[in-house]
Amino acid sequence: MFFANSNIDTRDEYDKRLGEAKKLAAHEGVRLVALPYDHEEWLHEVASGYEYEPEQGERCRRCFHYNLKKALEYACTHQFDEFTTSLTISPHKSSAMIFEVAKALIAEGKAATMFLDEDFKQGGGYAESVRRAQALGLYRQNYCGCEFSKAHWIVHHQAETESTNHDARDGKHLDVFTADYQRSGRGRLDHKWLSPPKTNLMMSAVLSVEGLDIEHASTLPLMAGLAVAKAIQALAIDGVSLKWPNDILVAGRKIAGILCERRGENAIVGIGLNVNAREFPEEIKTRATSLAIEVGKEYKLGYVRNCVLGQLYKWYGKWRDLGFNAIFDEVSAIDALKGTKIAVLQTDDDDSPLEGPCEGINSDGTLSVAGTKVYAGEAHILAVC
Ligand code: BTN
Repeated sequence: MFFANSNIDTRDEYDKRLGEAKKLAAHEGVRLVALPYDHEEWLHEVASGYEYEPEQGERCRRCFHYNLKKALEYACTHQFDEFTTSLTISPHKSSAMIFEVAKALIAEGKAATMFLDEDFKQGGGYAESVRRAQALGLYRQNYCGCEFSKAHWIVHHQAETESTNHDARDGKHLDVFTADYQRSGRGRLDHKWLSPPKTNLMMSAVLSVEGLDIEHASTLPLMAGLAVAKAIQALAIDGVSLKWPNDILVAGRKIAGILCERRGENAIVGIGLNVNAREFPEEIKTRATSLAIEVGKEYKLGYVRNCVLGQLYKWYGKWRDLGFNAIFDEVSAIDALKGTKIAVLQTDDDDSPLEGPCEGINSDGTLSVAGTKVYAGEAHILAVC
């Protein structure tokens, strides 16, 4: 058994897991080799610059590379035929990514040691690992190891509710409220948000805006829009854009809307994302789309929820720590209005909307229309310039 775990966030946790590995090695009658603990080196070589990546993203790939490289080096030096990793037992780990990294390492190092690409969680393997760990009285961790992998969101789900944004009013930072059905889902500018039960994603995430000045906090809807757009892109959908302030479009049709509300030191980010809807009410049917329509297959709502939450955590962290400037280029790159002729309505019945060519989103989060800064409103595209 080979124990390389410098990714673990604290010495205490490292020692605890090493102690359990020693128990298991003694039980199995095998020798245990443990590398010295060096979390500083791991932070420098693996995590630096990747702190905001979601779980199962690039930081995890780099971490697999870091630890498997050490295992392969040991295996080669000691002339092992094959090596493998217990990482694939975890339902939270992508075995395909692990295999890819291990095989690339072997190819790079022209190693004679081979990699056994066994997905241990398959065929009831995960349940069996839990059973055996319990039988041996082994400690079972509830996070992978590094400080970035600790469970962020706490999801509260209900079959039916008034509105998840309403439920989120008493929530704490990183609480998420979801429902199969909302009796009175709300959209921006007092619009209704209607969705049949168990068809689309409806959720409200609570994020702290404590200590942020008003200009910074006012750009939160754009950050949320970027995060939802990135999640949709990650599901292999092209043509995703962000219509200021926070509608997400695919090929010009609305796929998601966001309703942000302030509650003391917290912001509630309400997200409605059309996932499996195939039909829409008459009045929006030419302007709306869904993941299922775009990709031609149904999605599990929990999976889509996790994709969105992963991106929201990543972009919120950057935005909060480094400011809107740090994400401005990403927002600009998907600006749906830049270069179009638009009309902006300040209220639903605004009879003198501001019309003109749109120069796009500004670095303070406002929108430029015919040289005028717009702070809030609903934009309608009249023509592509
Ligand atoms: C819009 O496009 O006008 C924003 C729509 C936001 C809808 C979501 S669904 C989850 C959350 N709960 C609500 O009542 N509204 C938001």
